[in-house]
Amino acid sequence: MSKERTLVLVKPDGVRRGLVGEVIARIERKGYEVTALRMLQADRAILERHYAEHEGKPFYEPLLEFMMSGPIVALIAEGERVIEGFRSLAGVTDPTVAAPGTIRGDLARQQATKVVQNIVHGSDSVESAEREISIFFGGK
Ligand code: RTP
Ligand code: MG
Repeated sequence: MSKERTLVLVKPDGVRRGLVGEVIARIERKGYEVTALRMLQADRAILERHYAEHEGKPFYEPLLEFMMSGPIVALIAEGERVIEGFRSLAGVTDPTVAAPGTIRGDLARQQATKVVQNIVHGSDSVESAEREISIFFGGK
């Protein structure tokens, strides 16, 4: 299995709650390498590219609004099977049922919000990782 790269985002809820260090620590403790890192305020254009697959879904507009509600942290993590490995660290989308021990399972829960807030994003395939890395890191 060759080395992979994945795009991780700490979403606005994670940044607001001071969990950037916690997320990075879990990635590093697992043994992955953080090879690029930036904090940004995402605008609509970058999020429309990032979430193109969800356009038209009922949660699309609330998702974009949530992702624009504060700064986010984007990073590239590298390692063998890191795409699958980070999604395992993150846990399933719904934080109520995400397993304890995962980022979402330990640190998030259902809130009375229009869209699920679950602290992190992780790419779900080699193709989406490369596409998403080019969106946030300009083709790096
Ligand atoms: P992500 O892309 O952020 O890593 O999350 P994921 O693969 O686990 O979930 P995905 O299906 O790609 O959805 C992207 C994000 O949209 C929000 N979402 N809300 N029914 C809902 O309210 C709903 N469904 C999805 C979540 O923030 C999810 O992470
Ligand atoms: Mg996804």
